[in-house]
Amino acid sequence: MLSLKVAHIEDATPRIKRIELVSADGGTLPAFTAGAHIDLELGNGEARSYSLLNDPSETNRYVIAVLREANGRGGSAWIHDSLREGDPLGSPAPINHFRLSEDGENHILIAGGIGITPIASMAARLKALGKNYELHYCARSAEEAAFVNELQSVHGDKLKLTLDGGDPSRGLDVTALLAKRPSAGHAYVCGPAGLIRAVREAGREWPKGTVHYELFKGSEEDIALRKSDQPFDVVLNKSGRTLHVPADLSLLDVLKAEGFKIKTLCKEGVCGTCIVGLISGKADHRDDVLSDDEREESMQVCVSRAMPGETLVLDL
Ligand code: FES
Repeated sequence: MLSLKVAHIEDATPRIKRIELVSADGGTLPAFTAGAHIDLELGNGEARSYSLLNDPSETNRYVIAVLREANGRGGSAWIHDSLREGDPLGSPAPINHFRLSEDGENHILIAGGIGITPIASMAARLKALGKNYELHYCARSAEEAAFVNELQSVHGDKLKLTLDGGDPSRGLDVTALLAKRPSAGHAYVCGPAGLIRAVREAGREWPKGTVHYELFKGSEEDIALRKSDQPFDVVLNKSGRTLHVPADLSLLDVLKAEGFKIKTLCKEGVCGTCIVGLISGKADHRDDVLSDDEREESMQVCVSRAMPGETLVLDL
């Protein structure tokens, strides 16, 4: 666990605070890679994941941006209302589920709203690597678009801002943008679920592993237990036990009730903490962290289930 201290807080927009964290003892911080996040333990007893937005070459600070969420679970409100400069905060070292493919040559970065945070860090890294990249930043209005001046001064005309005024028909045309994959091209998107869906759909003909995405926060429609959910069985390979997961409980609920100590953080399929090895069976993956390849051998048990009629064999 890292001991951090809030070095600076400022308003990036009326609803977004930019927060700079340093090591409490004044030393250097563990290095991070572009797209990484930290899991801050807040003073209200909650923990929340925040992407690091600064240049990954910096080891003296972690910079995050926090949007006050009107319908959030209290983490963003606590940060906006109670966190002060000088306050201590704890976090494990940064982890990264949204990595740049640095061997790619042409990179299309797409950010929606507060999803600019990991994308800004990725853009800084691509610039340092001398790669070709475009940075598409979508927001409702200029007032709600954080860090535009800084991004413009670093990335110049590689920054393409789309302000849709809340009208999706005036939004970024991701279908046109991804219609043709550039040579050794990769696309990355972070933002609301609708934008991520549109980008994944637009890039469906791109080779596996070249369209990367991270949902800024759990999408209610993806994580909620659904009316259509079916019960299913899981076989635990190490113990040989079989557990039944009813339609109205998650796999995580059942594992915990049976005494398995599964580490969790977000419980929304976005942090990657509750990963469990999947040996066989088709899972209904509802997370936003695992790549297609990773999904063949693991699953996030807080949100994912079995496909209808499937029995899963887990590495537990
Ligand atoms: S606890 Fe975060 S993905 Fe499951």
